[in-house]
Amino acid sequence: MARLVIVSNRVAPPSERQQKAGGLAVALKEALKGDVLWFGWSGQIAKETSTTPTITEGKRLTVATIDLGEQDYKHFYVGFSNSTLWPLFHFRLGLLDFLREDYQGYLKTNEDFAAALAPLLRPDDVIWIHDYHLIPLAAALRRHNQMQRMGFYLHIPFAPTAIMDALPCAEEIVSSLCDYDVVGFQTEADKRNFMACAVQYAGAELTSDHTLSAGKRSVRAVAIPVGIDADAFAKAAEASSGSKEAKRMQESLVGRKLIVGVDRLDYSKGLTNRFEAYSRLFDRFPQHRLKVSYLQVAARSREDVIRYQNLKRDLDRLCGKVNGKFAEFDWVPLRYMTRSLPRSLLAGFYRSAHVGLVTPLRDGMNLVAKEYIAAQNEEDPGVLILSKFAGAAESMDQAIIINPYDPDQIAEAIHQALTMPLGERQARNKALQTIVREQSAGAWCRNSLMELRAC
Ligand code: UDP
Ligand code: G6P
Repeated sequence: MARLVIVSNRVAPPSERQQKAGGLAVALKEALKGDVLWFGWSGQIAKETSTTPTITEGKRLTVATIDLGEQDYKHFYVGFSNSTLWPLFHFRLGLLDFLREDYQGYLKTNEDFAAALAPLLRPDDVIWIHDYHLIPLAAALRRHNQMQRMGFYLHIPFAPTAIMDALPCAEEIVSSLCDYDVVGFQTEADKRNFMACAVQYAGAELTSDHTLSAGKRSVRAVAIPVGIDADAFAKAAEASSGSKEAKRMQESLVGRKLIVGVDRLDYSKGLTNRFEAYSRLFDRFPQHRLKVSYLQVAARSREDVIRYQNLKRDLDRLCGKVNGKFAEFDWVPLRYMTRSLPRSLLAGFYRSAHVGLVTPLRDGMNLVAKEYIAAQNEEDPGVLILSKFAGAAESMDQAIIINPYDPDQIAEAIHQALTMPLGERQARNKALQTIVREQSAGAWCRNSLMELRAC
């Protein structure tokens, strides 16, 4: 079978793969099992972007990485990718910053990626490019005479035309997506948004529910939700619940119920609303005071982006406010950590938590929601509270679905979860376990590659 070439901005070296937070790396684990070349940024910053990759050959997986130059890190990564496209695709125009030099840096870095990758490619490779950092990469590779099948997968939401309108280079960005043979999205809604934008900005014509014709090319758009390996995660959760850390956690709870939230420290995750909701829980339902403990892991992320610095400042302050208001000399209601924890350890915490809080204002999928469910013990499962704006909510409707803009609704949902009868918890958990197993990482990978190979 043809070799698979995966390209993503972030390529975590094997030693970091357990620790690094982010759904993309987790989802790709399954794809990395065959004969694969994985190409991307090393995570290192150098004076200039190198176009000679460092190559680490493994038995089946070869990893090739380049360092990013300081200016490219600033304009491509901090700038256009994470200060323009990220807020745009998460419907946050109030947080969007656009600078022409950032966009130029974005295009240049994509050209550098293409120049470094092209010499490593074989004519029969299947190339699968991931996420918003690399939208123009197919066009850049084609300029290097690479005519292989190329697919793109967007791990984050796709914006509707009314939001895309705010992007000064919308035509070029949307047209670049039409240079792929297949473009994949997390949900049907994202796919529909893309198709509408392709018609409006790239002059494409719809030729069926799934295909567009743009210039001389035909593009296939598909919605294939990302998932996890639920059985492996369930095993990790079971193993971890016997670990010394899990024991320390149990001892620290002294019989209190655990509420857990795990996110990158990102404004898309709705953390400020969540802290506000937690505070309202004690105002509205004082019977829970002293009876629960909420652990929020907020893994620091993109710390050179100003909006993330502002968010951290806000959360630090809010956490102090909640604890200052409700803490007792022997009870800290909110345990807030701003570093990442290994998934294996988190798995055990999910299993012992009565409530999983996943309340993003907008999220491509949200793998934490799936991991929380996979980790549950079917006899005495916890309850998932899930935002209607996470891609996961399209199928996980047996969670308690909330609108994250309404802190009172989240507080009511926490109360409902904490007091839910066992029978209802079991029934909801059973339905959700089925979904999480159906929409697995393996299925995502197989279905995406089937689409790409069928081109
Ligand atoms: N994660 C982790 N350690 C942390 C925080 C998160 O390993 O401290 C993992 C988490 O288990 C999940 C992924 O990072 O697998 C986050 O993916 P998700 O889709 O929820 O959000 P993203 O970060 O991609 O926006
Ligand atoms: C999300 C994005 C990924 C990104 C990850 C971590 O999962 O979809 O593309 O790699 O966040 O963000 P970072 O900026 O650290 O790569």
